[in-house]
Amino acid sequence: MDHFALNQGVLHAEDVPLPRIAQEVGTPVYVYSRATLTRHARVFAEALDGVPDKLVAFAVKANPNLAVLKVLASEGYGADVVSGGELMRALAAGIPAEKVVFSGVGKTRAELELGLEKGIGQFNIESREEGRELAELATALGKQAPATLRINPDVDAKTHEKISTGKAENKFGIPLVHAREAYAELAALEGLNLRGVAVHIGSQLLDLEPLETAFGKVGQLIADLRATGHTISHVDLGGGLGVPYKSGEVPPSPAEYGAMVARVTRDWGVHLTFEPGRVIAGNAGVLMTRVVRVKRGGNGPPFVIVDAAMNDLARPALYGAWHDFEAVEPTGERMTANIVGPICETGDTFARDRECDALQSGDLAIFRTAGAYGATMASSYNSRGFVAEVMVSGSDYAIVANRIPAMDIMSAEPIPEWLD
Ligand code: LLP
Repeated sequence: MDHFALNQGVLHAEDVPLPRIAQEVGTPVYVYSRATLTRHARVFAEALDGVPDKLVAFAVKANPNLAVLKVLASEGYGADVVSGGELMRALAAGIPAEKVVFSGVGKTRAELELGLEKGIGQFNIESREEGRELAELATALGKQAPATLRINPDVDAKTHEKISTGKAENKFGIPLVHAREAYAELAALEGLNLRGVAVHIGSQLLDLEPLETAFGKVGQLIADLRATGHTISHVDLGGGLGVPYKSGEVPPSPAEYGAMVARVTRDWGVHLTFEPGRVIAGNAGVLMTRVVRVKRGGNGPPFVIVDAAMNDLARPALYGAWHDFEAVEPTGERMTANIVGPICETGDTFARDRECDALQSGDLAIFRTAGAYGATMASSYNSRGFVAEVMVSGSDYAIVANRIPAMDIMSAEPIPEWLD
Protein backbone atom coordinates (compact mmCIF):
# COMPACT_ATOMS: atom_id res chain seq x y z
CA MET A 1 0.00 0.00 0.00
CA ASP A 2 1.23 3.50 -0.79
CA HIS A 3 0.05 7.06 -0.25
CA PHE A 4 -0.21 8.21 -3.87
CA ALA A 5 -3.92 8.35 -4.62
CA LEU A 6 -6.61 10.40 -6.33
CA ASN A 7 -8.41 12.92 -4.19
CA GLN A 8 -11.24 14.78 -5.95
CA GLY A 9 -9.82 13.84 -9.31
CA VAL A 10 -6.25 14.95 -8.57
CA LEU A 11 -3.35 12.68 -7.64
CA HIS A 12 -1.96 13.48 -4.24
CA ALA A 13 1.14 12.38 -2.39
CA GLU A 14 -0.31 11.97 1.10
CA ASP A 15 -2.20 15.29 1.51
CA VAL A 16 -0.26 17.28 -1.05
CA PRO A 17 -1.72 17.69 -4.56
CA LEU A 18 0.97 16.80 -7.08
CA PRO A 19 0.24 19.82 -9.35
CA ARG A 20 1.35 22.05 -6.46
CA ILE A 21 4.75 20.37 -6.38
CA ALA A 22 5.03 20.57 -10.16
CA GLN A 23 4.26 24.27 -10.07
CA GLU A 24 6.60 25.11 -7.21
CA VAL A 25 9.52 22.75 -7.92
CA GLY A 26 9.15 22.09 -11.64
CA THR A 27 9.31 18.82 -13.52
CA PRO A 28 10.64 16.20 -13.83
CA VAL A 29 10.71 15.62 -10.09
CA TYR A 30 10.91 12.58 -7.87
CA VAL A 31 8.32 12.63 -5.09
CA TYR A 32 8.70 10.40 -2.03
CA SER A 33 6.06 9.73 0.59
CA ARG A 34 7.42 9.59 4.11
CA ALA A 35 4.34 7.74 5.40
CA THR A 36 4.79 5.06 2.73
CA LEU A 37 8.46 4.62 3.57
CA THR A 38 7.69 4.31 7.26
CA ARG A 39 4.88 1.89 6.58
CA HIS A 40 7.03 -0.34 4.38
CA ALA A 41 9.86 -0.28 6.92
CA ARG A 42 7.46 -1.39 9.66
CA VAL A 43 5.70 -4.03 7.58
CA PHE A 44 9.04 -5.59 6.65
CA ALA A 45 10.37 -5.48 10.22
CA GLU A 46 7.14 -6.95 11.61
CA ALA A 47 7.23 -9.71 9.02
CA LEU A 48 10.47 -10.80 10.69
CA ASP A 49 8.97 -11.00 14.16
CA GLY A 50 9.62 -14.74 14.05
CA VAL A 51 13.37 -14.11 13.79
CA PRO A 52 14.65 -13.37 17.29
CA ASP A 53 18.10 -11.88 16.67
CA LYS A 54 18.42 -9.64 13.61
CA LEU A 55 19.45 -6.42 11.89
CA VAL A 56 17.52 -4.97 8.98
CA ALA A 57 19.97 -2.96 6.92
CA PHE A 58 18.43 -0.91 4.10
CA ALA A 59 20.27 -1.38 0.80
CA VAL A 60 21.36 2.23 0.31
CA LYS A 61 21.90 1.69 -3.42
CA ALA A 62 18.12 1.57 -3.85
CA ASN A 63 17.72 5.13 -2.63
CA PRO A 64 20.66 6.95 -1.03
CA ASN A 65 18.83 10.23 -0.45
CA LEU A 66 19.73 11.53 3.01
CA ALA A 67 16.14 12.31 3.98
CA VAL A 68 15.09 8.79 2.97
CA LEU A 69 17.93 7.33 5.03
CA LYS A 70 16.95 9.50 7.99
CA VAL A 71 13.40 8.14 7.91
CA LEU A 72 14.76 4.60 7.94
CA ALA A 73 17.33 5.41 10.64
CA SER A 74 14.50 6.57 12.86
CA GLU A 75 12.81 3.19 12.30
CA GLY A 76 15.93 1.52 13.68
CA TYR A 77 17.21 0.39 10.31
CA GLY A 78 20.88 -0.16 9.59
CA ALA A 79 22.45 0.26 6.16
CA ASP A 80 23.88 -2.09 3.56
CA VAL A 81 26.46 -0.04 1.65
CA VAL A 82 28.58 -0.83 -1.39
CA SER A 83 30.92 2.16 -1.60
CA GLY A 84 32.70 4.72 0.53
CA GLY A 85 30.14 7.25 -0.67
CA GLU A 86 27.21 5.16 0.56
CA LEU A 87 29.01 4.52 3.84
CA MET A 88 29.40 8.26 4.43
CA ARG A 89 25.76 8.85 3.55
CA ALA A 90 24.57 6.22 6.01
CA LEU A 91 26.63 7.79 8.79
CA ALA A 92 25.55 11.32 7.82
CA ALA A 93 21.92 10.20 8.09
CA GLY A 94 22.55 9.10 11.66
CA ILE A 95 22.77 5.34 11.13
CA PRO A 96 25.21 4.06 13.76
CA ALA A 97 28.42 2.57 12.33
CA GLU A 98 27.77 -0.76 14.05
CA LYS A 99 24.57 -1.09 12.02
CA VAL A 100 26.44 -0.67 8.72
CA VAL A 101 27.22 -3.68 6.56
CA PHE A 102 29.69 -3.27 3.69
CA SER A 103 28.90 -5.43 0.63
CA GLY A 104 30.37 -5.40 -2.85
CA VAL A 105 32.81 -7.25 -5.00
CA GLY A 106 35.25 -4.40 -5.63
CA LYS A 107 35.84 -2.60 -2.34
CA THR A 108 39.06 -0.66 -2.75
CA ARG A 109 41.83 -0.50 -0.18
CA ALA A 110 40.74 3.04 0.68
CA GLU A 111 37.14 1.89 1.17
CA LEU A 112 38.16 -1.03 3.38
CA GLU A 113 40.25 1.39 5.44
CA LEU A 114 37.35 3.81 5.70
CA GLY A 115 35.11 1.02 6.97
CA LEU A 116 37.70 0.04 9.55
CA GLU A 117 38.26 3.60 10.70
CA LYS A 118 34.55 4.20 11.09
CA GLY A 119 34.12 0.93 12.96
CA ILE A 120 31.35 -0.51 10.82
CA GLY A 121 29.49 -3.59 12.01
CA GLN A 122 30.31 -6.05 9.25
CA PHE A 123 32.28 -6.54 6.06
CA ASN A 124 30.81 -9.06 3.64
CA ILE A 125 33.94 -10.42 1.97
CA GLU A 126 33.57 -11.60 -1.61
CA SER A 127 36.94 -13.24 -2.28
CA ARG A 128 39.99 -14.67 -0.54
CA GLU A 129 42.02 -11.79 -1.96
CA GLU A 130 39.71 -9.23 -0.37
CA GLY A 131 39.75 -11.12 2.93
CA ARG A 132 43.56 -11.13 3.05
CA GLU A 133 43.72 -7.43 2.23
CA LEU A 134 41.14 -6.54 4.87
CA ALA A 135 42.98 -8.64 7.47
CA GLU A 136 46.26 -6.94 6.68
CA LEU A 137 44.74 -3.45 6.90
CA ALA A 138 42.96 -4.26 10.15
CA THR A 139 46.12 -5.68 11.71
CA ALA A 140 48.02 -2.54 10.74
CA LEU A 141 45.37 -0.48 12.54
CA GLY A 142 45.45 -2.79 15.56
CA LYS A 143 41.89 -3.90 14.84
CA GLN A 144 39.96 -7.02 14.01
CA ALA A 145 37.42 -6.68 11.20
CA PRO A 146 34.03 -8.27 11.84
CA ALA A 147 33.30 -10.21 8.66
CA THR A 148 31.25 -12.80 6.85
CA LEU A 149 32.17 -14.66 3.70
CA ARG A 150 29.72 -14.14 0.84
CA ILE A 151 29.04 -17.31 -1.01
CA ASN A 152 27.69 -17.84 -4.49
CA PRO A 153 25.13 -20.65 -4.18
CA ASP A 154 24.64 -21.07 -7.95
CA VAL A 155 20.89 -20.67 -7.80
CA ASP A 156 18.81 -19.19 -10.61
CA ALA A 157 16.79 -16.42 -8.98
CA LYS A 158 14.47 -16.27 -12.02
CA THR A 159 14.85 -12.54 -12.44
CA HIS A 160 16.24 -10.23 -15.15
CA GLU A 161 19.74 -11.44 -16.08
CA LYS A 162 21.27 -8.04 -15.28
CA ILE A 163 20.12 -8.17 -11.67
CA SER A 164 20.78 -11.84 -10.96
CA THR A 165 23.73 -12.26 -8.59
CA GLY A 166 23.72 -15.84 -7.35
CA LYS A 167 24.49 -17.90 -10.44
CA ALA A 168 27.90 -19.48 -10.90
CA GLU A 169 28.69 -17.20 -13.83
CA ASN A 170 27.92 -14.03 -11.82
CA LYS A 171 30.85 -12.14 -10.31
CA PHE A 172 29.53 -12.23 -6.75
CA GLY A 173 30.67 -14.30 -3.78
CA ILE A 174 32.79 -17.41 -3.51
CA PRO A 175 31.53 -20.56 -5.25
CA LEU A 176 30.16 -23.03 -2.71
CA VAL A 177 32.68 -25.65 -3.77
CA HIS A 178 35.51 -23.36 -2.65
CA ALA A 179 33.76 -21.91 0.36
CA ARG A 180 35.04 -24.32 3.03
CA GLU A 181 38.63 -23.95 1.98
CA ALA A 182 38.39 -20.17 1.71
CA TYR A 183 36.65 -19.98 5.07
CA ALA A 184 39.38 -22.01 6.75
CA GLU A 185 42.10 -19.79 5.36
CA LEU A 186 40.42 -16.50 6.26
CA ALA A 187 39.19 -17.62 9.68
CA ALA A 188 42.81 -18.20 10.67
CA LEU A 189 43.84 -14.59 9.91
CA GLU A 190 44.44 -12.46 12.97
CA GLY A 191 42.96 -9.28 11.48
CA LEU A 192 39.60 -10.89 10.78
CA ASN A 193 36.81 -11.91 13.08
CA LEU A 194 35.22 -14.17 10.51
CA ARG A 195 31.95 -15.15 12.09
CA GLY A 196 29.63 -16.38 9.39
CA VAL A 197 28.42 -16.25 5.81
CA ALA A 198 26.41 -13.99 3.51
CA VAL A 199 24.28 -14.61 0.44
CA HIS A 200 22.29 -12.47 -2.00
CA ILE A 201 20.99 -14.08 -5.19
CA GLY A 202 19.34 -11.22 -7.02
CA SER A 203 16.77 -8.48 -7.05
CA GLN A 204 13.07 -8.11 -7.92
CA LEU A 205 12.44 -11.74 -6.97
CA LEU A 206 8.84 -12.75 -7.55
CA ASP A 207 9.20 -16.31 -6.31
CA LEU A 208 10.42 -17.41 -2.88
CA GLU A 209 11.54 -20.82 -4.04
CA PRO A 210 15.04 -19.83 -5.29
CA LEU A 211 15.61 -17.89 -2.06
CA GLU A 212 14.63 -20.92 -0.02
CA THR A 213 16.96 -23.11 -2.09
CA ALA A 214 19.85 -20.69 -1.54
CA PHE A 215 19.13 -20.43 2.20
CA GLY A 216 19.02 -24.23 2.38
CA LYS A 217 22.52 -24.35 0.90
CA VAL A 218 23.66 -21.78 3.45
CA GLY A 219 22.20 -23.95 6.23
CA GLN A 220 24.16 -26.93 4.97
CA LEU A 221 27.34 -24.86 4.78
CA ILE A 222 26.87 -23.60 8.34
CA ALA A 223 26.59 -27.20 9.54
CA ASP A 224 29.72 -28.20 7.60
CA LEU A 225 31.72 -25.25 8.91
CA ARG A 226 30.65 -25.94 12.46
CA ALA A 227 31.59 -29.58 12.03
CA THR A 228 35.12 -28.48 11.20
CA GLY A 229 35.35 -26.37 14.34
CA HIS A 230 34.30 -22.91 13.17
CA THR A 231 32.02 -20.73 15.28
CA ILE A 232 29.23 -19.40 13.11
CA SER A 233 27.28 -16.62 14.81
CA HIS A 234 26.21 -14.33 11.95
CA VAL A 235 24.46 -14.92 8.64
CA ASP A 236 23.47 -12.23 6.14
CA LEU A 237 20.54 -13.22 3.90
CA GLY A 238 20.74 -10.21 1.56
CA GLY A 239 17.72 -8.55 -0.01
CA GLY A 240 15.86 -9.18 -3.22
CA LEU A 241 12.16 -9.32 -2.43
CA GLY A 242 10.24 -8.01 -5.43
CA VAL A 243 7.52 -5.38 -5.61
CA PRO A 244 4.50 -4.97 -7.90
CA TYR A 245 5.38 -2.73 -10.85
CA LYS A 246 2.26 -3.50 -12.83
CA SER A 247 -1.13 -3.19 -11.21
CA GLY A 248 -2.33 -6.74 -10.68
CA GLU A 249 1.18 -8.18 -10.17
CA VAL A 250 1.35 -9.97 -6.82
CA PRO A 251 4.86 -10.69 -5.51
CA PRO A 252 5.33 -12.70 -2.33
CA SER A 253 4.43 -10.55 0.66
CA PRO A 254 6.94 -9.60 3.35
CA ALA A 255 4.90 -11.81 5.70
CA GLU A 256 5.32 -14.84 3.41
CA TYR A 257 9.02 -14.07 3.07
CA GLY A 258 9.36 -13.68 6.85
CA ALA A 259 7.56 -16.95 7.52
CA MET A 260 9.81 -18.79 5.06
CA VAL A 261 12.93 -17.31 6.62
CA ALA A 262 11.78 -18.13 10.15
CA ARG A 263 11.06 -21.73 9.11
CA VAL A 264 14.32 -22.30 7.23
CA THR A 265 16.59 -20.63 9.81
CA ARG A 266 14.84 -21.90 12.96
CA ASP A 267 17.71 -24.10 14.10
CA TRP A 268 20.61 -21.98 12.93
CA GLY A 269 21.13 -20.16 16.22
CA VAL A 270 22.64 -17.09 14.57
CA HIS A 271 22.17 -13.34 14.29
CA LEU A 272 20.56 -12.65 10.91
CA THR A 273 21.07 -9.59 8.73
CA PHE A 274 18.63 -8.57 5.98
CA GLU A 275 19.38 -6.10 3.19
CA PRO A 276 16.06 -5.08 1.65
CA GLY A 277 16.10 -2.17 -0.79
CA ARG A 278 13.33 -2.13 -3.37
CA VAL A 279 10.62 -3.54 -1.10
CA ILE A 280 11.13 -0.60 1.27
CA ALA A 281 11.58 2.28 -1.16
CA GLY A 282 10.12 1.20 -4.53
CA ASN A 283 6.50 2.13 -4.08
CA ALA A 284 7.34 5.03 -1.79
CA GLY A 285 8.28 7.21 -4.76
CA VAL A 286 7.02 8.38 -8.13
CA LEU A 287 8.63 10.35 -10.93
CA MET A 288 6.39 13.21 -11.98
CA THR A 289 6.76 14.48 -15.50
CA ARG A 290 5.01 16.90 -17.85
CA VAL A 291 3.92 16.09 -21.36
CA VAL A 292 5.95 18.23 -23.78
CA ARG A 293 3.81 17.35 -26.74
CA VAL A 294 1.91 14.54 -28.34
CA LYS A 295 3.14 13.60 -31.77
CA ARG A 296 1.43 11.45 -34.35
CA GLY A 297 3.06 8.07 -34.89
CA GLY A 298 4.08 6.63 -38.25
CA ASN A 299 2.08 3.46 -38.43
CA GLY A 300 1.55 2.98 -34.71
CA PRO A 301 0.08 4.84 -31.78
CA PRO A 302 0.98 8.46 -31.04
CA PHE A 303 4.16 9.38 -29.17
CA VAL A 304 3.51 11.00 -25.82
CA ILE A 305 6.77 12.91 -25.35
CA VAL A 306 7.37 13.68 -21.69
CA ASP A 307 10.02 15.90 -20.11
CA ALA A 308 11.55 12.97 -18.16
CA ALA A 309 13.96 10.73 -20.02
CA MET A 310 16.08 7.61 -19.73
CA ASN A 311 18.75 9.65 -17.95
CA ASP A 312 16.28 10.40 -15.13
CA LEU A 313 14.70 6.94 -14.88
CA ALA A 314 16.95 4.36 -16.50
CA ARG A 315 15.10 1.14 -15.66
CA PRO A 316 12.90 0.86 -18.77
CA ALA A 317 15.87 1.50 -21.10
CA LEU A 318 18.24 -0.75 -19.14
CA TYR A 319 16.03 -3.69 -18.26
CA GLY A 320 12.90 -3.19 -20.35
CA ALA A 321 11.22 -2.54 -17.02
CA TRP A 322 7.55 -1.65 -16.71
CA HIS A 323 6.48 1.36 -14.65
CA ASP A 324 2.78 2.16 -14.37
CA PHE A 325 2.09 5.52 -16.00
CA GLU A 326 -0.87 7.65 -14.94
CA ALA A 327 -2.22 11.14 -15.49
CA VAL A 328 -2.14 13.39 -12.45
CA GLU A 329 -5.61 14.69 -13.36
CA PRO A 330 -7.22 11.88 -15.34
CA THR A 331 -10.29 12.75 -17.39
CA GLY A 332 -11.54 9.18 -17.60
CA GLU A 333 -10.61 9.01 -21.28
CA ARG A 334 -8.00 6.47 -22.33
CA MET A 335 -5.52 6.25 -25.15
CA THR A 336 -2.87 3.86 -26.47
CA ALA A 337 0.51 5.53 -26.74
CA ASN A 338 4.24 5.17 -27.02
CA ILE A 339 5.61 7.03 -24.02
CA VAL A 340 9.01 8.49 -24.78
CA GLY A 341 11.50 11.04 -23.47
CA PRO A 342 13.34 13.76 -25.38
CA ILE A 343 16.72 11.97 -25.58
CA CYS A 344 18.12 11.29 -29.00
CA GLU A 345 18.01 7.54 -29.08
CA THR A 346 15.21 5.09 -29.50
CA GLY A 347 16.14 3.44 -26.21
CA ASP A 348 14.62 6.49 -24.55
CA THR A 349 11.26 4.76 -24.50
CA PHE A 350 9.33 4.24 -21.28
CA ALA A 351 6.54 2.19 -22.79
CA ARG A 352 5.36 1.01 -26.15
CA ASP A 353 1.73 0.51 -27.14
CA ARG A 354 0.70 1.33 -23.61
CA GLU A 355 -2.95 1.75 -22.76
CA CYS A 356 -3.03 4.74 -20.44
CA ASP A 357 -4.92 7.86 -19.41
CA ALA A 358 -5.48 10.22 -22.32
CA LEU A 359 -2.90 12.99 -22.20
CA GLN A 360 -2.26 16.25 -23.98
CA SER A 361 0.61 18.69 -24.17
CA GLY A 362 1.12 20.35 -20.77
CA ASP A 363 -0.54 17.59 -18.73
CA LEU A 364 1.19 16.09 -15.72
CA ALA A 365 1.74 12.36 -15.30
CA ILE A 366 3.63 10.01 -13.02
CA PHE A 367 5.71 6.91 -13.37
CA ARG A 368 4.99 4.79 -10.34
CA THR A 369 7.35 2.62 -8.30
CA ALA A 370 10.25 4.96 -8.89
CA GLY A 371 11.39 5.25 -5.28
CA ALA A 372 14.01 2.53 -5.68
CA TYR A 373 16.71 2.56 -8.37
CA GLY A 374 15.22 5.77 -9.75
CA ALA A 375 16.99 9.07 -9.02
CA THR A 376 20.08 7.22 -7.91
CA MET A 377 20.65 5.75 -11.38
CA ALA A 378 20.34 9.09 -13.14
CA SER A 379 22.98 10.47 -15.49
CA SER A 380 23.37 13.78 -17.26
CA TYR A 381 23.25 12.28 -20.76
CA ASN A 382 22.29 14.77 -23.47
CA SER A 383 23.50 17.48 -21.07
CA ARG A 384 20.39 17.21 -19.00
CA GLY A 385 20.69 18.15 -15.34
CA PHE A 386 19.82 16.00 -12.33
CA VAL A 387 16.19 16.26 -11.33
CA ALA A 388 14.99 17.47 -7.93
CA GLU A 389 13.71 15.11 -5.25
CA VAL A 390 10.92 16.02 -2.87
CA MET A 391 9.64 14.33 0.28
CA VAL A 392 6.05 14.70 1.35
CA SER A 393 4.98 14.32 4.96
CA GLY A 394 1.25 14.77 5.56
CA SER A 395 0.34 18.17 4.17
CA ASP A 396 3.97 19.34 4.11
CA TYR A 397 6.64 18.77 1.58
CA ALA A 398 10.27 19.73 1.21
CA ILE A 399 12.94 19.56 -1.45
CA VAL A 400 15.35 16.82 -0.32
CA ALA A 401 17.64 17.01 -3.35
CA ASN A 402 18.12 20.20 -5.31
CA ARG A 403 17.78 20.14 -9.04
CA ILE A 404 21.32 20.28 -10.46
CA PRO A 405 21.12 22.29 -13.66
CA ALA A 406 23.13 21.28 -16.72
CA MET A 407 25.06 24.54 -16.38
CA ASP A 408 26.33 23.56 -12.91
CA ILE A 409 27.63 20.31 -14.31
CA MET A 410 29.30 22.23 -17.11
CA SER A 411 30.97 24.55 -14.62
CA ALA A 412 32.80 21.55 -13.14
CA GLU A 413 34.68 21.06 -16.42
CA PRO A 414 37.90 23.09 -16.39
CA ILE A 415 39.38 23.89 -19.78
CA PRO A 416 43.15 23.30 -19.89
CA GLU A 417 45.21 26.40 -20.56
CA TRP A 418 46.67 24.83 -23.68
CA LEU A 419 43.22 24.70 -25.25
CA ASP A 420 42.45 28.33 -24.60
N1 LLP B 1 22.18 -6.66 -1.00
C1 LLP B 1 23.03 -6.77 -2.03
C2 LLP B 1 24.35 -7.37 -1.81
C3 LLP B 1 22.65 -6.33 -3.31
O1 LLP B 1 23.50 -6.47 -4.33
C4 LLP B 1 21.36 -5.75 -3.51
C5 LLP B 1 20.95 -5.27 -4.82
C6 LLP B 1 20.52 -5.64 -2.39
C7 LLP B 1 20.96 -6.11 -1.15
C8 LLP B 1 19.17 -5.03 -2.46
O2 LLP B 1 18.32 -5.74 -3.28
P1 LLP B 1 16.77 -5.40 -3.35
O3 LLP B 1 16.16 -5.73 -2.02
O4 LLP B 1 16.63 -3.95 -3.65
O5 LLP B 1 16.27 -6.25 -4.44
N2 LLP B 1 19.26 -1.42 -10.53
C9 LLP B 1 18.47 -2.63 -10.51
C10 LLP B 1 18.60 -3.38 -9.20
C11 LLP B 1 20.00 -3.77 -8.83
C12 LLP B 1 20.09 -4.49 -7.51
C13 LLP B 1 21.50 -4.72 -7.14
N3 LLP B 1 21.69 -5.32 -5.85
C14 LLP B 1 17.03 -2.31 -10.84
O6 LLP B 1 16.71 -1.14 -11.06
O7 LLP B 1 16.19 -3.21 -10.93
